[in-house]
Amino acid sequence: MFRQRKARAAWEATFIPGTYILANKLGITDARQLQRAEFELATDAELRVLDGSTRIPATYDFDHLKALHRALAGDIYPWAGQCRIYELGRGSVSFAPTHVIDRQLATMARFVRKQPWAELGHDETAQVLAHVYARLNYAHPFRDCNGRAGKLLVRLLAREHGWELDYSRVPIADWIHGSRLSLPDPSAVSTWAGPAEPDPAYLVPAFHRALIEPPW
Ligand SMILES: Nc1ncnc2c1ncn2[C@@H]1O[C@H](COP(=O)(O)OP(=O)(O)OP(=O)(O)O)[C@@H](O)[C@H]1O
Ligand SMILES: [Mg+2]
Repeated sequence: MFRQRKARAAWEATFIPGTYILANKLGITDARQLQRAEFELATDAELRVLDGSTRIPATYDFDHLKALHRALAGDIYPWAGQCRIYELGRGSVSFAPTHVIDRQLATMARFVRKQPWAELGHDETAQVLAHVYARLNYAHPFRDCNGRAGKLLVRLLAREHGWELDYSRVPIADWIHGSRLSLPDPSAVSTWAGPAEPDPAYLVPAFHRALIEPPW
């Protein structure tokens, strides 16, 4: 009961009181203005990660994701890089229950480590990257900016193995649709057969489209 109250309070504290606007370090109280500022600051921060001027150990695990999230959103939100303690959904869908977030991301990190990267062609690499993103998206560990942080981690992973990901090649509707369908079927959440797992198959076409030979 105490835990539930704490979770509820943490969730409520993410809003400017009496509004649905995220409380932020910039003192912005207008939703559109906040969206613009978030886009600009996070885009600049992302470029600094990509060009190496912000250095983050490339471990492709939860610590890596947290550090990326902090780099992208740390100037904007007080909860940047911190795992949520409240449940989170979008419309009718639910992301991972808080008690499975760590395990989902540990499974992801193991999956990354065991891939025979040098032997993977275009199709297999797209499948592997879809698998990684499906877990990141299901875990959805942060209050917001999960898409940005997750896409960046997967892009860095692709680059490390000689590929490039150009997400602008994927129509946004396809991205969202694939992301939504890749979530575990709500009726399958934790049965006797084991915990619910995301299904990366729905994201494979998007990664297939985004994955390119690097121009360098
Ligand atoms: N209905 C949905 N069901 C499941 N996943 C979704 C849904 N809509 C969006 N997503 C996924 O969640 C991500 C957005 O999550 P979030 O809003 O936390 O991140 P963001 O960085 O603020 O947004 P974006 O990725 O859109 O820039 C999307 O990139 C997509 O992968
Ligand atoms: Mg968002």
